Amino acid sequence: MRAAEAIRLVAAARTDADLFGADQPARRYRELVAALHPDRLPTDPAVRAEALDAFVRVTTRWQARRVTVLGDYRLGAPAHSGDLADLYDVGDDRLLKLPRRPTDNDLMAREAHALRTIAERGDPRYLPYVPRLVDELRHRDTATGAERRVNVLATAPGLHDLDEVRRAYPDGLDARDVAWMWRRLLVVLGLAHRAGVVHGAVLPRHVLIEPDAHGVVLVDWCFSVAVGSTISAAVPGHGWYPEEVLTKQPCGPGTDIAMASHCMSWLMGPRAPRELHTFAQGCRQRSLHARPDDAWRLLRELDQVLERLYGPRTFRPFTLTP
Ligand SMILES: Nc1ncnc2c1ncn2[C@@H]1O[C@H](COP(=O)(O)OP(=O)(O)O)[C@@H](O)[C@H]1O
Ligand SMILES: [Mg+2]
Repeated sequence: MRAAEAIRLVAAARTDADLFGADQPARRYRELVAALHPDRLPTDPAVRAEALDAFVRVTTRWQARRVTVLGDYRLGAPAHSGDLADLYDVGDDRLLKLPRRPTDNDLMAREAHALRTIAERGDPRYLPYVPRLVDELRHRDTATGAERRVNVLATAPGLHDLDEVRRAYPDGLDARDVAWMWRRLLVVLGLAHRAGVVHGAVLPRHVLIEPDAHGVVLVDWCFSVAVGSTISAAVPGHGWYPEEVLTKQPCGPGTDIAMASHCMSWLMGPRAPRELHTFAQGCRQRSLHARPDDAWRLLRELDQVLERLYGPRTFRPFTLTP
């Protein structure tokens, strides 16, 4: 295809189907891009300007088209951008998680494996604390031929991550509000650990809460490993990892318990009562072997500390607007 022909085609095309054709859209896209590429244009500045304009239109429309439909899913706006993937709202309380680079496919597979394992082995009462894996698919980029693994995850309305929660309470949260988050976080960890899975990235951005019903959901299982394995990938730039992760030693339930306690101390900030501060510190002793490794038992111990501090449990409404 010559540049003049490509320019005409782009100018005349009203829809993506006009522009890329129905049969071999990727091939048409490559032809257009090649014909309009600045290196191959005549020197006439007017033609070059027109071609550049057409080039930008082709590439922009191709990008947009590429992500609007994926398998049976119609992608809405990107709802979240994580450390390796973008999550698109696909309606019906579902998020489609698409890694930005095919080299992260192994991490997507880890997530799917962990969620399947927990769903198979876990106590059904606690399964709402982890996202349900609705679907897995592979997506081949028509332009590059690279294949990416995609996970479709269930979500629920009204979830907020702990970064957002902490921002709403710059002076720290009341420990009684942190109490239910911590209790439920230990439930998720107990659930996962019983199924033989270590989450491996219990960080504020991965702990979601639903304030009205005091719900907690632990997301992003891409970094998970079997109990006793080493975590090879860490979320970049996060200083909360315990020693065994940084030194690539085997991880265990205590790895998650330490990171969870870090999140909880950080939520309370200076408002942490001394007993809870000490309790949290005990959860993140340097050596994995010195730390508690049974989330269910730890939950009972936490309940005892809370009872000593505040008496019998009562429901305390929590909002993000203090
Ligand atoms: N099931 C879900 N429901 C609601 N929000 C979610 C869900 N999964 C992820 N998120 C949000 O999207 C962000 C990015 O997702 P995540 O799984 O962490 O992607 P990545 O592996 O790329 O870091 C999370 O930090 C969280 O805020
Ligand atoms: Mg993440």
